[in-house]
Amino acid sequence: MYDPLALRKRFIQLAKIEGKRVLDVGTGRGYNAILLANEYKCKVTSIDNRERKLVDARAEAQRMGVTPELVTFSQGDILVGLNFPDHFFDVVVALNMLHHVQVEGRERCVMEMARLAKERVVIGELNQEGASFFDTVAHPGENHLKLLVPRDWMRETFVCIGKCTVIEDERINVYSWDVF
Ligand SMILES: C[S@@+](CC[C@H](N)C(=O)[O-])C[C@H]1O[C@@H](n2cnc3c(N)ncnc32)[C@H](O)[C@@H]1O
Repeated sequence: MYDPLALRKRFIQLAKIEGKRVLDVGTGRGYNAILLANEYKCKVTSIDNRERKLVDARAEAQRMGVTPELVTFSQGDILVGLNFPDHFFDVVVALNMLHHVQVEGRERCVMEMARLAKERVVIGELNQEGASFFDTVAHPGENHLKLLVPRDWMRETFVCIGKCTVIEDERINVYSWDVF
């Protein structure tokens, strides 16, 4: 059975972000931000580069009774850079966002996340298993396999950010850097 909520909760547990001030990059419809605020006592700033997603996210947050002070949704493009000072957030998270960025822009996105994080950057990306599952069961007809972010590239490219831990879960790999 496909249970996105279970996947989100697993990602949040692995990210260990309870009670933190969090930046959620590529928030989409805001499901992670809402969970983080409602169940994990986080204060969340959520950004997405598509305003349409943010309209849906705000409506979903209202429907889910999120305390407005705990989550803000704003338009922003992590590839271009965000207008926050260095290390403004405890933790910066991005779940299944990076594969939406063209290969040549991915490094810049992760480096911008690292600039904004005081403690940790945590990125969840579909692994081979997850991408195959999405392409055949969850979203048939899409091509996540083609967009996969390679695990070794993630580990090797960002050694300058901090110590990297990789947790290979059933369908996602979670990369967590304790920033220097
Ligand atoms: C597959 S959705 C994931 C949404 C959410 N993180 C989740 O787990 O449900 C990817 C999101 O990343 C956003 N995105 C893609 N490129 C982005 C960028 N350069 N800056 C900010 N958001 C971006 C997309 O608009 C989309 O809403």
